[in-house]
Amino acid sequence: MLPYLVFLLLSLSTHTHGENPAIKLILTDKGLQYGKHMAAVVLTEKMKNMSFPDISGGVSIGLLGTVDYVLSGMSVSQCDFPEPSVDFYEEVGLKAVVSDLNMRVNGRWNTNFGIIYDSGSFDLAVSKVGVTSVVRLAENEEHLSISSETCSAEIGDVHINFHGGASFIFQPFVDSFKSRIKGEIQGKICPAIQQQTEDLERQLAAIAVSFQVGSDLVLDVPLSSSPLVDSASLELDFKGEFYSAKSHTDPPFQADDFSLTCQDSYMLSLGMSEFTANSVSYSYFSTGVLVAHITDKMIPAVSPLRLNTSSFGKLIPQLPKLFPDLLMELSVSARKVPMFSFLPGEVQLGLPGMVTAFAVQNNATLTPLFKLQADSVFSGQVSISGNKVRGSAALSNFTLTLVSSEIGPFKAAFLESLVMLGIKTGVLPKLNAKLGEGFFLPSPHHIQLVNAVLKVNKGFVAFSCNFDV
Ligand SMILES: *[C@@H]1O[C@H](CO)[C@@H](O)[C@H](O)[C@H]1NC(C)=O
Ligand SMILES: *[C@@H]1O[C@H](CO)[C@@H](O)[C@H](O)[C@H]1NC(C)=O
Ligand SMILES: *[C@@H]1O[C@H](CO)[C@@H](O)[C@H](O)[C@H]1NC(C)=O
Ligand SMILES: *[C@@H]1O[C@H](CO)[C@@H](O)[C@H](O)[C@H]1NC(C)=O
Repeated sequence: MLPYLVFLLLSLSTHTHGENPAIKLILTDKGLQYGKHMAAVVLTEKMKNMSFPDISGGVSIGLLGTVDYVLSGMSVSQCDFPEPSVDFYEEVGLKAVVSDLNMRVNGRWNTNFGIIYDSGSFDLAVSKVGVTSVVRLAENEEHLSISSETCSAEIGDVHINFHGGASFIFQPFVDSFKSRIKGEIQGKICPAIQQQTEDLERQLAAIAVSFQVGSDLVLDVPLSSSPLVDSASLELDFKGEFYSAKSHTDPPFQADDFSLTCQDSYMLSLGMSEFTANSVSYSYFSTGVLVAHITDKMIPAVSPLRLNTSSFGKLIPQLPKLFPDLLMELSVSARKVPMFSFLPGEVQLGLPGMVTAFAVQNNATLTPLFKLQADSVFSGQVSISGNKVRGSAALSNFTLTLVSSEIGPFKAAFLESLVMLGIKTGVLPKLNAKLGEGFFLPSPHHIQLVNAVLKVNKGFVAFSCNFDV
C-alpha cells in the first residue's frame, strides 16, 4: 500500500560529493495526505481484482482420519477499504496504518479423503484486518530508495461457508479450519507488502537522474544526500546542475547552500539555487555558442545608425576617411560567463560582452577596426499565475569601453548612449512581449497547479503550490 503511495508521490527521481544541493523539494503533510488519498483510490481498485495463492492442508476429522483440502481460485468479491492513515515517521520515512479493512473472498474447494474426492465453492469473509507498515526512505547510488522497516498484520475474524458437494460434512469443522486460514492470510500480508516495496525500489532505482533538455543541455538531478524526514515534512535535495550535451564539464563555481522553508499550507515547495541558472550560462559559454555576428541587415530600418563606415562617421570621424563607403559587421560574444544573481524580489543578469567591429571589403574580407568591452546588467521580475510563469526585464546598467583600435582613438560615450537606446527601444520591448506572454510550467499527468506562488530570495527562487487532478 505504502509502495503505491510513495510511487505516486515521488514519480520524481532523485551523488554524494559533499556539494551543496541546488534544487530542494519539500513535501508537506498536506501533500502527503493528498497523495495518500489518490493512492487509496488506486489501491481500492487493485484490491478488487486481487487474487490469492492456493491454500492447501489437512484437517483431522476425529477418529476418521485426515481430509486433505485445497482452496483455490480465490479472488476478492467485495472490499471495504477504509482510507489508511499515512504519516511522516521522523528520521525513517513513512508510516501507514490500515484498520478495519473487511473483505469477501470467493473460491473453490477440493477435498481428498482417502479415495473420496469432492469439490464445491466457498465464500470467506475476512474482517477487521489491521496492518501497520513503516518504510524507510534513503539515498542509494543517487536515487531515492525505499525499504520495508517494520510490518505487522492482524486479522480480527474469518467466516467461511462451504457450498456444493458434501459441504455439510466440512462445515462443522470450520472452527478448526478458521484459525489455520486466518494464520495463512495473516502471514501473507507483510510478505506481500515487502514484495511491493521491493518492486517499487527496483522502479525507483531505474528512474533516470539526468534528463536531456532540448538538444543542447542535460539536467543532472541525482539525490545529493539522504532524504530528510521530520514529523511534518520530507525534504529531498538534488544536485540540480545543467551541463552541455556535448561535453560534461563542471562550472568553476559552486552552489551556495540555502534553506527552503517548509510552507505547511502548500502541498509542495521547490527551491532552485541561482547556481542552476548559472550552470546553463556556463554550458552555453564553454561550448562557444554565446557568439553573434551582426550585419546591417539585422539593424531595424528605423535605426538612425546604420552598420556602415559613413554612418559611423558621425561617431568616429576618421573611419569613413580610412574606409570609405563600406558596410560593417560586428562580432558580439560573451567575455566571461553571464551570471544570474537572485536577489529579494529580483533577478539580475550580468552580461560581460566583447564587441569586435570589422569593415567588410568589396572582396568580402573582414578588416578589424576596433574592439569594445560592452558590459550590461539586466534586472527582471518573475511572477506566476495558474500554470504560467511570466516575467519582465529592464536594462539597469550598460557601459561601453574602448579596448583597442586599428583606426586610432575615439570616444565611446556617444556610441554607448546610442547602443543603450537601441537595447531599450529595440531589444527590450520584444523580449518583454515574449516574457509577458509567459510560458506554461510542465504539468505531468494533467496535474493542475493551484494557488502557485513564486518568490525570488537571496540566492534562490522558491516555488510552492497545491495540486488538483
Ligand atoms: C483484473 O485482472 C485480470 C487478470 O488478472 C485482468 O484481465 C483485468 O483486466 C483486471 N481488471 C482490472 C480492472 O484491473
Ligand atoms: C550607410 O548608411 C547611410 C545612412 O546612414 C546610407 O545612406 C548609405 O547608403 C549607407 N551606405 C552603405 C554602403 O550601405
Ligand atoms: C581584399 O581587399 C583588400 C582591400 O582592397 C586588400 O587589402 C586585400 O588584400 C584583399 N584580399 C583578398 C584575399 O583579395
Ligand atoms: C554601472 O557599471 C559601472 C561599471 O561596472 C559602475 O561604475 C556604475 O556605478 C554602474 N552604474 C549603476 C547605475 O549601477
